[in-house]
Amino acid sequence: MRTYCSDVEERNVNKYGVNELRKMFLDFFESKGHLVMKSFSLVPHNDNSLLLINSGMAPLKPYFTGQEIPPRKRVTTCQKCIRTGDIENIGKTDRHGTFFEMLGNFSFGDYFKHEAIAWCWEFLTEVVGLEADRLYPSVYLDDDEAFDIWNKEIGIPAERIFRFGKEDNFWEHGSGPCGPCSEVYYDRGEKYGCGKPGCTVGCECDRYIEVWNNVFTQFDNDGHGNYKDLSQKNIDTGMGLERLAAVVQDVESIFDVDTIQALRNRVCELAGKTYKEKHEWDVSIRIVTDHIRSATFMISDGIMPSNEGRGYVLRRIIRRAARHGRLLGIEGDFLANLSSTVIEGSKDGYPELEEKKDFIFNVLTQEESKFNKTIDQGLNILAEMEENMEKEGRTQLSGEDAFRLYDTYGFPLDLTMEILEEKNLTIDEEGFQAAMKEQKEKARKARKVTNYMGADVTVYESIDPAITSEFVGYDKLSWESGVTAMTTEEAVVDALTDGESGTIIVAQTPFYGTMGGQCGDTGVIRCGDGEFVVQDTIHLAGGKIGHIGRMTSGMIKLGDKVELSVNPAGRADTCKNHSATHLLQKALRTVLGSHVEQAGSYVDAHRLRFDFSHFSAMTPEELAKVEQIVNDEINAHLPVRTSVMTLEEAKKTGAMALFGEKYGDSVRVVQMGDFSTELCGGTHVANTGDIAVFKILSESGVAAGVRRIEALTGPGVFAYYKELEDRLSEAAKIVKATPANLTEKLTHLMAEVKQLSSENESLKSKAARESLGNVMDQVKEIKGVKLLAAKADGADMNGLRDLGDQLKEKLGEGVVVLASEKDGKVNLVAMATDSAMAQGAHAGNLIKGIAALVGGGGGGRPNMAQAGGKNPAGIPQAIAEVEKVLEGQLK
Ligand code: ALA
Repeated sequence: MRTYCSDVEERNVNKYGVNELRKMFLDFFESKGHLVMKSFSLVPHNDNSLLLINSGMAPLKPYFTGQEIPPRKRVTTCQKCIRTGDIENIGKTDRHGTFFEMLGNFSFGDYFKHEAIAWCWEFLTEVVGLEADRLYPSVYLDDDEAFDIWNKEIGIPAERIFRFGKEDNFWEHGSGPCGPCSEVYYDRGEKYGCGKPGCTVGCECDRYIEVWNNVFTQFDNDGHGNYKDLSQKNIDTGMGLERLAAVVQDVESIFDVDTIQALRNRVCELAGKTYKEKHEWDVSIRIVTDHIRSATFMISDGIMPSNEGRGYVLRRIIRRAARHGRLLGIEGDFLANLSSTVIEGSKDGYPELEEKKDFIFNVLTQEESKFNKTIDQGLNILAEMEENMEKEGRTQLSGEDAFRLYDTYGFPLDLTMEILEEKNLTIDEEGFQAAMKEQKEKARKARKVTNYMGADVTVYESIDPAITSEFVGYDKLSWESGVTAMTTEEAVVDALTDGESGTIIVAQTPFYGTMGGQCGDTGVIRCGDGEFVVQDTIHLAGGKIGHIGRMTSGMIKLGDKVELSVNPAGRADTCKNHSATHLLQKALRTVLGSHVEQAGSYVDAHRLRFDFSHFSAMTPEELAKVEQIVNDEINAHLPVRTSVMTLEEAKKTGAMALFGEKYGDSVRVVQMGDFSTELCGGTHVANTGDIAVFKILSESGVAAGVRRIEALTGPGVFAYYKELEDRLSEAAKIVKATPANLTEKLTHLMAEVKQLSSENESLKSKAARESLGNVMDQVKEIKGVKLLAAKADGADMNGLRDLGDQLKEKLGEGVVVLASEKDGKVNLVAMATDSAMAQGAHAGNLIKGIAALVGGGGGGRPNMAQAGGKNPAGIPQAIAEVEKVLEGQLK
């Protein structure tokens, strides 16, 4: 059989660059009536089934299921994606990376297979100019419809169309829309082939590679393998941009396409190594090249390294890159340096990279140097563990130890393995996995289930997607509107009656739904005698605002005209706190520097919390300055103006945009005098003077490079001081003082306590001395050496030593042995003077010789020794024994 294309080794296509190809694709589909949308953030919104966006369709799921109405039925994107499922193998071959861009065209219930296939073909052959002879379509096993379109409409001979099963030609990932695919393979020619007989499309080798995937999305997978027909038929397509570029540029792999090659070269340059010289180096070069791309993009979307979830993925990626850089011999911190090459190559398609550049470099460098410290620390701890293994004659590191290194010290398991392997030692991997599982279990239990459109809140998905709500509450707290939908916790209903809990949706509401860190409003909804108390207000998918609460009387029905009233005090206090966070952000940038970016915030009627990027704890002086600036701006009574404009216009005003946030075409800008300008959809005071006063309660760290300030405003501050005042009065009362003279009183009291305790000490030693009676009567002479052995009651070890010193003094020369009983325990002290020692006396051995009699042990130097014991009954015998022991010692 003739292999269709062995004669087309010489190619004649334009070698478009990555950035050109991206634009060509989006322009092409725009010309076919598609809306070009910007790449969505790598952080999924309202999707618990994914940690990171992994395909072009993932952020569009609600449009596929019909839960939300898309801005147009035809959309095209170039989506940044990360897949880390196969991270262990990244680098070992040149086929995959964790980061890639996916080109896609989407139809939400609009065109279907005919157009999708025709446009795919047109783009590949006519726009990009790939030879038709090298392209091979495939279809799902029994998808005759797709087969016929390829065969009859496009004109591909039947023998060039392949049929593949579920593994290759059925797209699904996590829960959500899915369906059969038709892929297009490209023959890169014999030089990439395995040369084995039967090598054709579907062969494992590198000759035939998949470039385009057309998914005919017609099912919805509920996440448990149950497939429901979608009410509309959709098109989801995907094409890896880097892979297309590899084909078009006729290079070996994605690591050789223009932008990535530039990055790869930079890695080689820093390491002083050449690519394709040594397999081991190539693995590390590819890992660093790929991982720095992922890390740069993740940080630009506001992900910070941490020990959980996405943050953990990022941490792992940064650390792997850092480690492989070390393996390549790169010295010092290098990730920020490489990141600048990533940004240079990709800022065309992703301008936010350039905007967040300094921040990205900072995060990378912080994490990198932390990792370097970790490595050094981990090496020490591992060395200790190895020592213990050797002592105990083990050759296997326990699972717990390996896990401790990994979990507590952040030391990578593969590194532990490598180091042990070199010494012919092993790891109990099962034990490690068990410890890991246990920890994950704990973490899962600790994680809070969110009710904000999490996968668990399904009742809202049954609401008609055409229903939307408008927020009218920036300047109104009550409003009349019609009820457009209602639900209980389980179902969509037509009415809610007394005692029932549920959600009410209206066309226009003055209630602010939780968003941008500001908590939803509370209040009441009334209709005749029907009253619904709103406990929370949230945003639901598809532009709906849900009032969550409980009917406290009567009934409210679908279609009723209702009066919506926001709790005015709660709203007013929330506004104060929200406006104060804007002042706070600006004050922080003023005091700490422009690297300060908002990393999260929480505002309700009672307090405010503001998370921001900064790399060390704030000093008390810095905090005081920030607090002062905010209070100064409150006192300046700045007017607060809000205006709606395009994002471009907003940027010109210098407005601070929130990190990793996706903004629509028009944005709201909140300005406080000339002091602060921010993009913000929240509610605010009309004048900063309304905030009244601002007080910082605490500053702490929440993650690497992220600090948190908690603060109060207005009535919150007064309540705080009131409580402080009450506590102060309480404390003053206890010491019979007033708050005004409390310090003075406490100073006196402390002096008194000090004097009393020193008096107490001397009384105790006096009492001990007296309990001995006239001890000098008890002095004996053993072989010409004076010995005083006696019992002194109630003295502790210190008292006994003091007493011993005094008696020794009185004795002039000789040996003193004292025993006491205190709290059921025995204390022993022995002392010998110089001349006694010269004659053979040894205090340490003396103690040793008698301690057993009081149920203890001890010893010490020749001139002084002490011991404790548990048996007070043995004291007389011990004292009697002293004589004998000393006699044995003396010459
Ligand atoms: N969603 C499809 C894929 O990622 C197009 O392959």
